[in-house]
Amino acid sequence: MKDLTPSPDSLDPIEIASRDEISALQQKRLAWSLRHAYNNSPFYKKQFDAAGAHPDDFKSLADLAKFPFTLKQDLRDTYPFGMFAVPQNQLSRVHASSGTTGKPTVVGYTKNDIDVWADVMARSIRASGGRAGDICHVAYGYGLFTGGLGAHYGAERLGCTVVPISGGMTERQVTLIQDFKPRILMVTPSYILSILDEFRRQGIDPRESSLEIGIFGAEPWTNAMRTEIEEAFGMNAVDIYGLSEIMGPGVANECVETKDGLHVWEDHFYPEIIDPQTGDVLPDGEMGELVFTTLTKEGLPMVRYRTRDLTRILPGTARSMRRIEKITGRSDDMIILRGVNVFPTQIEEQLMKCDGLAPHFQIRLNTVDRKDVMTVLVEACEGHTDSDARAASARELAHHIKSVVGVSTKIDVGDPGSCARSEGKATRVIDSREK
Ligand code: DLL
Repeated sequence: MKDLTPSPDSLDPIEIASRDEISALQQKRLAWSLRHAYNNSPFYKKQFDAAGAHPDDFKSLADLAKFPFTLKQDLRDTYPFGMFAVPQNQLSRVHASSGTTGKPTVVGYTKNDIDVWADVMARSIRASGGRAGDICHVAYGYGLFTGGLGAHYGAERLGCTVVPISGGMTERQVTLIQDFKPRILMVTPSYILSILDEFRRQGIDPRESSLEIGIFGAEPWTNAMRTEIEEAFGMNAVDIYGLSEIMGPGVANECVETKDGLHVWEDHFYPEIIDPQTGDVLPDGEMGELVFTTLTKEGLPMVRYRTRDLTRILPGTARSMRRIEKITGRSDDMIILRGVNVFPTQIEEQLMKCDGLAPHFQIRLNTVDRKDVMTVLVEACEGHTDSDARAASARELAHHIKSVVGVSTKIDVGDPGSCARSEGKATRVIDSREK
């Protein structure tokens, strides 16, 4: 593949600034952000007062640990606009994420917030190898989900020609990729697999397409999946991370030249890793729960927001800003099966090792004779029709899962197309266990 490293003079100076410069900027911006939250959001005033923390107590970056965490539940409790730090008439836009229970959580942006978001998103696309003049096909969903519009504004900011197709209508996705010849594709990793199937169904070799860069995120995906996608399309597959509460896509992004974890855009988002049980801050390099504080956000400042995402902080490489390791999963996606912790990404990793099985999967959990049973639904590749051969593939996958992840599973190998397809984030686990 071609070397897509962006030229150093195209980067924002802060991306390659010294650690001292970055820390000094964070210190200044954090002081502002804590004060802004305290003075303008009654929610934060109450929280800080209850914890005995005042913005005046913030004198160095380590003092952030004195401030209380913010949880998703806090957004639910203050639904819809109760945490905002500006009057509603200063908000340019709201987004929302559908919760598993009841009301969605609502987030709001001022004009300046939208501007910052476009900047960090443009930076993310550039880090992925994109540049002005590229055609960028955005197949993230448009609407209350932050994926579509977030990617859209960033691509425009970089100077790309945006194709705002949104998710769904997979046949048309392929037609427009063939006709408009985008260089960049932005979509969830599970939906790119559906698009890949559609290429093959139409008898088109995806390696012949114009695509050179895929920017994939919004859900966990493994390096094994990266290799699969890169080989299928002959393109670079780069990871993008973000969450609505902090901004949307573009909080952190991999650099195409290294693909070694995601650089956090630390001039706008301050990361910490905590022990999810005790809440203690862990040193860089240790695994734990990712926590973010926004440094410049006006509409909805977030102080020590617990993301539930599990990862660790690593030093900068292609940029001076620190990286987060590719996310293994969320603490709430973790399956506890007969005492063993299992993440869907671990299953994905093992599936990728098995010839004859397609990369689609879903995990079903049931109770049989008072025992928890995990079944992994997978599907055979086209042409893999022989029942003995399929049974051998199932045994191979069960063996890998047992020896690497440590749990016994039942594997169901269905026909091609039998696994549920997603047009956005995939539903990886259906838990029907008796509680
Ligand atoms: O998923 C924002 C986004 C859109 C990111 C498009 C990237 C691309 P939410 O719907 O609020 O926002 O979901 C946020 O998705 O806390 C993670 O659990 C998960 N997530 C997002 N990106 C990644 C990633 C968008 N690259 C939640 N790897 C986050 C793993 C991810 N998980």
